[in-house]
Amino acid sequence: MNNKIIIINGPNLNLLGEREQSQYGSITFEELREICSNKSKELGLVAEFYQSNIEGELVNLIQDSRKKFDGIIINAAAFTHTSVAIRDALNVFKKPIIEIHISNIYKREEFRHKSLISDVVTGGIFGLGADGYILAIISMQKLLKNENR
Ligand code: DQA
Repeated sequence: MNNKIIIINGPNLNLLGEREQSQYGSITFEELREICSNKSKELGLVAEFYQSNIEGELVNLIQDSRKKFDGIIINAAAFTHTSVAIRDALNVFKKPIIEIHISNIYKREEFRHKSLISDVVTGGIFGLGADGYILAIISMQKLLKNENR
């Protein structure tokens, strides 16, 4: 059976293509959804793609994901740096989680240098642009198939 994954996006990522292109490039949110969907299909994964600006919605979604998905790829966006609630929800998900950031958060303002979720996830990717999502999908497939080296 195909593994099911969810790709979760936090606040303001719906504005990709419009916001701070110097950090996030010109790809739109819809284009990102499309490349993630294509890559997932190519690798035999069933992927859902989700975005919310609301912290509690993301917490509910992560909680519900326990029963529905085999892995989570998450760009928690600004909540990465602030949300104990998202961290705690992720900590209950006992399957692979990959943290992704489009920009290099360590090259930016100091408040972005701290991620509250990095130590409760399996691994992370940052600073590689939207391609980071593709790399995360490839890694997730390997983790789920126990083929990661
Ligand atoms: C981001 C980095 C965060 O600091 C920022 O708040 C975002 C996007 C990234 O993908 O580079 O909204 O997670």
